Amino acid sequence: MRVGLVAVVTVAALVVSGCTHTQTPVPTPSTVSLGPGADGIGDSLYPSAGNGGYDVGNYDLDVRYDPASKVLTGTAVISATATANLTAFDLDLHGLTVASATIDGADAKPSRHADELVLTPASRLPIGRQFHVTVKYSGVPVPYTDPSMGIDGFLATPDGATAIGEPEVAASWYPVNDHPRDKATYTIKITAPDGLQVFSNGVRTGSEPAGGGLSTTTWSVTSPMASYLATMVIGHYRVLEGTADGKPVLSGIDARLPATIDAQIRRTPEIVGYLATQFGPYPFDAMGGIVIDDDRVHFALENQTRPIYSNAFFRGGGDATVVIAHELAHQWYGDSVSVNSWVDIWLNEGFATYAEWLWTAHQGGPTVEATFDDTYDNTSAAVWQSPPGNPSKRELFGYSVYYRGAMTLEALRIKVGDDAFFRIIQDWAKQRAFGNGDTQQFITLAEHDSGQQLDAFFHTWLFGTTKPLRPTR
Ligand code: TRP
Ligand code: ZN
Repeated sequence: MRVGLVAVVTVAALVVSGCTHTQTPVPTPSTVSLGPGADGIGDSLYPSAGNGGYDVGNYDLDVRYDPASKVLTGTAVISATATANLTAFDLDLHGLTVASATIDGADAKPSRHADELVLTPASRLPIGRQFHVTVKYSGVPVPYTDPSMGIDGFLATPDGATAIGEPEVAASWYPVNDHPRDKATYTIKITAPDGLQVFSNGVRTGSEPAGGGLSTTTWSVTSPMASYLATMVIGHYRVLEGTADGKPVLSGIDARLPATIDAQIRRTPEIVGYLATQFGPYPFDAMGGIVIDDDRVHFALENQTRPIYSNAFFRGGGDATVVIAHELAHQWYGDSVSVNSWVDIWLNEGFATYAEWLWTAHQGGPTVEATFDDTYDNTSAAVWQSPPGNPSKRELFGYSVYYRGAMTLEALRIKVGDDAFFRIIQDWAKQRAFGNGDTQQFITLAEHDSGQQLDAFFHTWLFGTTKPLRPTR
């Protein structure tokens, strides 16, 4: 689903579908044969991420994982719509071996080219055509090792596995249009040995024996999800279950970790409730969190409905609710409203960091004003030279994106006042729910909701390379 492009696609579809109804057997190349879908969706920082020429509506994933052999075996059924006339198109797939691929039941002649799985339909898919791709695949998943990101991807653990990474993870365990601009709903079926716990996104809709010492759980993700937010976690976990506001709450804590962590994870609905008072209604139909015990993972990730936390946040028994608030804030900013391009990442991380400041103040800690002042005073010169609105690939998850991003929001609040500020961030969550947004669209909304001209303001805070003047309250 690509909410932002609906209007454009509809117009193009009308024009070209006229051609498909003519009797001419060989359409003129200028109107029809756009050739293969591009091998990237057009992201400046990740040129081969995602693909052109189609829009996925739903992924139906049926995967089996064997922790002993580390082999993943899957069948992916992908429902998509052609957004160009396709003689061939790509899915992203990192490692793994494709046994077969069909489009609407006919052989799709799969071939591989780096991290692209190239498919060729038996006959051209005209723009607007809905189609189903079925890919059968297997292998030992290969993680990504980008030096600036650490290890990402489908990570085998001694007793199971964790799929975690951003931006790169999805294609290491399923064939995918791997970019947040093409969000889709999911059904995820996971088969694993009995006695292990399994987690994924959304609502768990089934759990049943699969024979041969295996069990299958089924997960339903009914709100469109960006591909990097899909996860599967397998291992020995303590399971915490309940409901909040009539929605299922389901969390897991690696069984080796101290039980004191459980009390903090149990605060998830309370923290969601607080954030809803600031951002508007919680967007999804389920919630929870997963704490993993894997020394290769030092961060937390905002997986849709069920963030994953490194156990590092819980060491020493201190308060970890700030990171929980960060990942839960991403449910609004990042997951429901997703970036249009990776360069827009401050819209995720700046907002989630600002939510940390709100939560800290709410808990009786320093006020947001004090945290801003402290951050403003102690931010190094290098950060003021690094604009959060236009990060390099290496700086995508750097200090500027998180902290200068959050400072930008507090500076905006000071400039437009509390009422306009909360209207802006709530409207952003509401108007773009389950879709995408970019920085320019945020600026346009901020100007609309405040009635102020804000180009110069945002230029200074997001794109400038010198320290902005201290905002006056
Ligand atoms: N988005 C994560 C956060 O909440 C940070 C992150 C970026 C990350 N890349 C990752 C976490 C890879 C785990 C793995 O701030
Ligand atoms: Zn974050």
